[in-house]
Amino acid sequence: MKKICIVGTGYVGLPLAAGFANVGNEVTCLDLDEAKITDLKNGKIPIYEPGLEDLIKRNQKNFNFTTDVQQSIQNNDIIFICVGTPSCTDGSADLQYVLSVAESIGKYMNSCKIVVDKSTVPIGTADLVEETIKKQLLERKVHHNFHVVSNPEFMREGCAVEDVLHPDRVVIGTNDIPTGLTLKRLYEPFVLNGNPIIITDVRSAEMIKYASNCFLATKISFINEMANICEKVGANILEVRKGMAADHRIGDKFLYASIAWGGSCFGKDCNALLNISRNISEESLIVNATIQTNESRPKRFVDTMLSYLLPDQVTIWGTAFKPETDDIRDSASIKVIKLLLEHGIKVNVHDPMALENTKKIFGDNISYCESQYESLLKSDCLLLCTEWSVYRMPNWGLMKKLMFQHYIFDGRNQYDLKTVQEQGFNYISIGREPIKI
Ligand SMILES: NC(=O)c1ccc[n+]([C@@H]2O[C@H](COP(=O)([O-])OP(=O)(O)OC[C@H]3O[C@@H](n4cnc5c(N)ncnc54)[C@H](O)[C@@H]3O)[C@@H](O)[C@H]2O)c1
Repeated sequence: MKKICIVGTGYVGLPLAAGFANVGNEVTCLDLDEAKITDLKNGKIPIYEPGLEDLIKRNQKNFNFTTDVQQSIQNNDIIFICVGTPSCTDGSADLQYVLSVAESIGKYMNSCKIVVDKSTVPIGTADLVEETIKKQLLERKVHHNFHVVSNPEFMREGCAVEDVLHPDRVVIGTNDIPTGLTLKRLYEPFVLNGNPIIITDVRSAEMIKYASNCFLATKISFINEMANICEKVGANILEVRKGMAADHRIGDKFLYASIAWGGSCFGKDCNALLNISRNISEESLIVNATIQTNESRPKRFVDTMLSYLLPDQVTIWGTAFKPETDDIRDSASIKVIKLLLEHGIKVNVHDPMALENTKKIFGDNISYCESQYESLLKSDCLLLCTEWSVYRMPNWGLMKKLMFQHYIFDGRNQYDLKTVQEQGFNYISIGREPIKI
């Protein structure tokens, strides 16, 4: 059993805390957001993540939710920094939250600590965290040993609990062997299946995270560009995907053509790595192209729709950046809605989990529907933006009755071409022949 403090109870901090608590550790969850901590104390989980609520409730006795910075730092041996690292205007990662946690650690630490950078941070940030803590200790005129470790997180929203409990790999970046061993022990219960715990130097660990995320984003941007070509040459991207994915060197993961990738990580991490590469005169042309390809896609999707019709009212299915989350950060769907509003088009939206967060952006400018079918009433077309499973086998007959015109623009290639044709819909998907009735 270890005494662990998780700083930042967001999409990463909470699943991680639940995982550690589940294997018997005592976990303090510290956040400056009082409303979040009050909710958590009352058993209300502030984000939607499958299995999270259950895991936290089952391990209630191992949790302490608090806003008390001093107590959290002094009462725990291992402190995980899980705060946000959003983009600055130049694309670089904003480290103010990470460094403010480091400052608090230096201000309050009273014994030896292991400080773990879990947030995604630029290469060299562990050194900055160390300097920041040392500065505070110097001001206090006290000496305490501490080690700063880079331990990037690879969990996927929508299956974060599963990823915490069974990670593909754990990366621990440290130059101190005993610290590496302590963290290895902490993670061993999660890799009884033999998945690797990779202990490496700090800077390589920091780089592994950026390289991994940028590679995944590149894979999607690549298949999206292939889809653009398929549309012009009469090929079918799903057939192309099948043929490519059968090659083990390529694989079938992250090879689905779509409206665009989104979420809080890919965009900001690609921009951060691009910024880093430019600052050292090693600009990554691939990462730059990956970003640009992705940024062009929501407009391409809307322009495609406008090339078929000028709708009065449109229905959006899915505003979350992916299924099984309520997270709409950098969601392609949100970008599409903004473009539709610029064209003066009325917008109805449905999403199983993300309507509350969507309301925070659009307020009264769009209509929110609890039922996916109600959202279609009097619409000229449906834009499917997030591949929630509830959209997979729709009631075609009901859809036909509710909609004014029968157009579906499918940003996630959810439907079989023959089926939609038989049902009598105009159907325009990504990288496949359009169906016109
Ligand atoms: N979301 C993901 O899927 C994911 C996956 C891997 C890595 N990451 C990385 O993990 C980090 C956190 O991401 P997230 O999505 O969990 O962010 P988030 O915005 O959901 O959560 C961050 C939390 O930190 C809190 N916070 C900010 N400053 C604080 C402080 N000084 N003390 C205490 N709490 C503070 C905020 O109130 C918030 O609750 C980022 O660097 C991100 O890139 C995210």
